[in-house]
Amino acid sequence: MGSTQVGIVRDLAKYPPQDPSAKKDLYNAALELLYSVESAQDTAQRLYHGHVPLAMAQTGIDLNLFNILAEQQDREWTLEQLAEKTKAEPALLYRVLRCLNAYGMVTQTKDNTFTASNITKNLALPSTHAGIKHYSLTMTPAYNAIPKYLAKTGYKNPTDSAPFNLAYNTDLPVFEWRKHNPENAKAGQAFMAAQRIGQRSIWDGRVPVSDLQLSEKDVADGRVMFCDVGGGMGHQCLDLRKYHPELKGKMVTEDLPLAQDMIPNREEMKKLDIEPIPHDFMKEQPTKNAKVYYLRNVIHNWNDEPSKVILSSVRKAMADDSVVIIDDVLMPTIGATWKQASMDMAMMTMLAAMERTKEHFEKLLADSGLKLREVHVYDEEYGDSLIVAVPA
Ligand SMILES: C[S@@+](CC[C@H](N)C(=O)[O-])C[C@H]1O[C@@H](n2cnc3c(N)ncnc32)[C@H](O)[C@@H]1O
Repeated sequence: MGSTQVGIVRDLAKYPPQDPSAKKDLYNAALELLYSVESAQDTAQRLYHGHVPLAMAQTGIDLNLFNILAEQQDREWTLEQLAEKTKAEPALLYRVLRCLNAYGMVTQTKDNTFTASNITKNLALPSTHAGIKHYSLTMTPAYNAIPKYLAKTGYKNPTDSAPFNLAYNTDLPVFEWRKHNPENAKAGQAFMAAQRIGQRSIWDGRVPVSDLQLSEKDVADGRVMFCDVGGGMGHQCLDLRKYHPELKGKMVTEDLPLAQDMIPNREEMKKLDIEPIPHDFMKEQPTKNAKVYYLRNVIHNWNDEPSKVILSSVRKAMADDSVVIIDDVLMPTIGATWKQASMDMAMMTMLAAMERTKEHFEKLLADSGLKLREVHVYDEEYGDSLIVAVPA
């Protein structure tokens, strides 16, 4: 019986389904299977060595190993050929490759021969490189400080400081600290920029845009149709125009001058009636009476008190028919996935911030003079959602 079950799992590993949704279901089921059969030693060893795959992935990236292997997916490389290409000492390279094989990141075909695995191509992507750099360089030391930080602060939800501050022995918030730590700043920026590469635009028909429709009078009066608060480089405004050229009215993207200095295409924005406005969202909202105020990945960067300041200042600028759309992860009350729960921990660790449930958003909105109207979950796997609110 046991060997039949193993045979089924091995066959699935060898001939996985090709349909993306069947693949995803199998991936999640396989994780469940792993946990359900894990022995005490397996658990201990998995946790002890938790840092090894990330460190090895970073080393593989630094040596350009994954790109070399992924460029010729079926080619088998000898250790000597890879040593020649990477300029690493063969004895060290062998150990690295052996470990990467053990974690499925490459495949060892013979004693001294290696080829790309299913995962190698994922590790050859620039977006993955950016994430691995940010996590191995900046996040890992901060995660390591979590237990000490929580013990020191009496196991309270972090509000004024975060494990990051203990890890890096600084009182500065992370964005300020980055100004003095250019390598971390560069890695962090690259990760933010790469994070959503390849993802579908949310404006491609998955979410309703009826709130963005202005009346003819509104258009004639020059009413702002879409105000992207903390909008970074204005990419959501550009995407919205691209997918919905029928929506009339001006758009505004607001952010700190530091972020707006990086906007690459101001001329294009001007032609599309998108105006970048430098603004600190802790202060009075300068764009009054917009039809929609949109905040993507902004509120999850803050805990409740500063979030109330941001939302209340938006509330004061709203007209009776204005709408606030928060675009954040909506945490389930039961069974958060490891990706969702880890993102919540990332927010806590670096920013003393959090991901929120629907009930938590309802309270936060009520405390800011707003009320929840509806929720659109547009990515089930991550829980990415539009939380739509109106004046209370
Ligand atoms: C995680 S990013 C999200 C950017 C963009 N909304 C997106 O989804 O790509 C958070 C943004 O908040 C901006 N930000 C941080 N503090 C701010 C402040 N006090 N006022 C305005 N923007 C701020 C940052 O510069 C950054 O662009």
